[in-house]
Amino acid sequence: MTQTQRIRIKVKRQDASGQTPYWEEFDVPYRKNMNVISALMEIQRNPVRVDGVRVRSVLWEYNCLEEVCGACSMRINGKVRQACSALIDRLEQPIVLEPMSTFPVEKDLIVNRQIMFEGLQKIKGWIAIDGTYPLGAGPRIAPDEQQEAYKYATCMTCGCCLEACPNVNDHSPYLGPQAMAQAKYFNSHPIGKMMAKERLETVVSNEGIAGCGNSQNCVQVCPKEIPLTTALAELNRDANRYMLRKLLKG
Ligand code: SF4
Ligand code: SF4
Ligand code: FES
Repeated sequence: MTQTQRIRIKVKRQDASGQTPYWEEFDVPYRKNMNVISALMEIQRNPVRVDGVRVRSVLWEYNCLEEVCGACSMRINGKVRQACSALIDRLEQPIVLEPMSTFPVEKDLIVNRQIMFEGLQKIKGWIAIDGTYPLGAGPRIAPDEQQEAYKYATCMTCGCCLEACPNVNDHSPYLGPQAMAQAKYFNSHPIGKMMAKERLETVVSNEGIAGCGNSQNCVQVCPKEIPLTTALAELNRDANRYMLRKLLKG
């Protein structure tokens, strides 16, 4: 592409939550190394459609601009990913931008990812410390275990895995792969495992692991390459053991 060329962007828009979505197309000037965020910024500077009509500026969320915060997740040419790491040169045109469909749309490309944070609350996605006195050095963790656990710590609650999962929808209470993987992560921590039973109670509930149909879509879209299906398999084993022990105890 040359510097004088323009990029055609097609955006699925919505004026407010619950309203009917509609499509609008924009042409923006091309610059080398542009990403989808910089193209959206061009639309923001000059929100004029291809038919010459000036419209309300397109809204979307972003923060870190380096695939760390997860705020800019959207469907780009049908694939859920982060707008900040989606390079224009690698995308077919028109570039089609849509909000994620698993979450309620608030406006244009902005969705409400609250269900993910509620899922983290339900699986108690934290390490309990009371914070009233110095705890000293934490328990020692072998370097290979640290490395394994670190992958899970990179989850940015972006929502891509929920978007790709066919079993996360309005008809299912399933909390989704991100919450399940975080339950596995916190249960494997030397202090976190003190609350393992409480987490497993959620995992074996109707919101838990039984909702996973093992389609493996989630692991394919995770931008952090978190081994979600491995976590789901291990958590499933832990959940079965937990249920068996409960049964034997009567
Ligand atoms: S493996 Fe389970 S959690 Fe992952 S996409 Fe399939 S059904 Fe959803
Ligand atoms: S597990 Fe991966 S895809 Fe799912 S929310 Fe975390 S970073 Fe995003
Ligand atoms: S702006 Fe943070 S991930 Fe894209």
